[in-house]
Amino acid sequence: MTAPAPEPGLSVGEVVTVDIGPIAHGGHCVARHEGQVLFVRHTLPGERVRARVTEVGSGSRFVRADAIEVVSASPDRVPAPCRYAGVCGGCDFQHVDLAAQRRLKATVVREQLQRLARLDIPVEVEALAGHRDGLRWRTRTEFAVGPEREIGMRPHRSHHVLPVDDCLIAREEVIATGVLHRPAERVPADVVAFDVIAPSVGEPVVVPVTAQGATEAAVAVTEVVEAGGFRGEFEVAARGFWQVHPGAAGRFVELAVEMLAPRAGERVLDLYSGVGVFAAALAEAVGPTGEVIAVESDVEASAHAQANLAAYDNAVVVRARVDEAFGITARRSRGPQRRGSRGGRGRPGTRHPLIPPTADLVLLDPPRTGAAADVCRAVAALSPRAIVYVACDPAALARDLATFADSGYAVRTLRAFDAFPMTHHVECIVLLER
Ligand SMILES: C[S@@+](CC[C@H](N)C(=O)[O-])C[C@H]1O[C@@H](n2cnc3c(N)ncnc32)[C@H](O)[C@@H]1O
Repeated sequence: MTAPAPEPGLSVGEVVTVDIGPIAHGGHCVARHEGQVLFVRHTLPGERVRARVTEVGSGSRFVRADAIEVVSASPDRVPAPCRYAGVCGGCDFQHVDLAAQRRLKATVVREQLQRLARLDIPVEVEALAGHRDGLRWRTRTEFAVGPEREIGMRPHRSHHVLPVDDCLIAREEVIATGVLHRPAERVPADVVAFDVIAPSVGEPVVVPVTAQGATEAAVAVTEVVEAGGFRGEFEVAARGFWQVHPGAAGRFVELAVEMLAPRAGERVLDLYSGVGVFAAALAEAVGPTGEVIAVESDVEASAHAQANLAAYDNAVVVRARVDEAFGITARRSRGPQRRGSRGGRGRPGTRHPLIPPTADLVLLDPPRTGAAADVCRAVAALSPRAIVYVACDPAALARDLATFADSGYAVRTLRAFDAFPMTHHVECIVLLER
């Protein structure tokens, strides 16, 4: 029997010299080599680099590669401030000038909107307050623990642990906990990671995490949000969802309220509400004759939302998946909800009694996967006068905006923020109206 002929094209480990084309969604740039498309990390449009192939997709359809030598550099290239850049999987834009990072993110958002939503909108990625040159902003960081109890970060698409003694994007308070210098004998054998949280109030918290989850699941922290005339305090599980950039939550709440322009007496839905940060500001804005219905599936987050919104008689929390609350899918048994989990399409269910047939305003802030078509159609069917969509993935956002367009809602304003400097990630806030 003869061995099958090897696949034509590049294989893992091979080094090629390529001319780098545009930035793509995900932070890598596109290049071509003898008919194959390469997604190359740690490079910039217009560069010529030597790149090592790190992965070949099935059928050789796409190739991932990493730049190992810059033959001709982009004027936007800078020396990486962090000595672990290029190895650590946490930051992928350390080699890019900060203003150029934002231009690259704007290009990606614009391209996704053009391709997936047929929208041509100029995009500018704005800075948030609360960082130093794109460094020392991250208030929540997970450090991995390796087999020798070494503590550090995971390289890109790897299970290994790269020991580090600093992380330049983490807040000083995170590093000052000393967790990165903890001796191996003080790291329990079952701990696979440490989550370090520097909240806006009180001391930083270090949560040891085992393969089963946090060892101290009940740890909660307090976050304060000031947005225009609004000030709120929020209890949030230490490992629960909260914007990691210290300038993000306040700015996003301020902007969402400004975009929605709530009026006294209006009915508002806050979907994927987390611990109720938007819901609280909106409840205050619509006043005692208005109402806010917050929908959140995570057990801990919805319990915190209940507590955080207890002072607002006009706000209620529905603990349910959004698709289940709308009756798109039947409710499942109530085991603990996995954070950020996405609903496959199940059998239709019944609408939650607290979900009204109409609403004046809707805010949705789904996880990375987006809201998906059925939820967008259900939101449009409420006939709100305005919708604000907060999105951390421009591709999922663009796909959902296309559904909203088919349902009669057009983009009025799009703002994009650099909520994750030194990485390719970007946050968008979009106002839709009929
Ligand atoms: C991006 S976070 C936004 C949270 C909140 N708006 C904030 O800014 O703090 C998304 C939230 O949606 C929740 N979530 C994920 N999938 C959900 C679903 N299918 N239905 C309801 N909530 C969901 C997560 O638990 C998380 O709290």
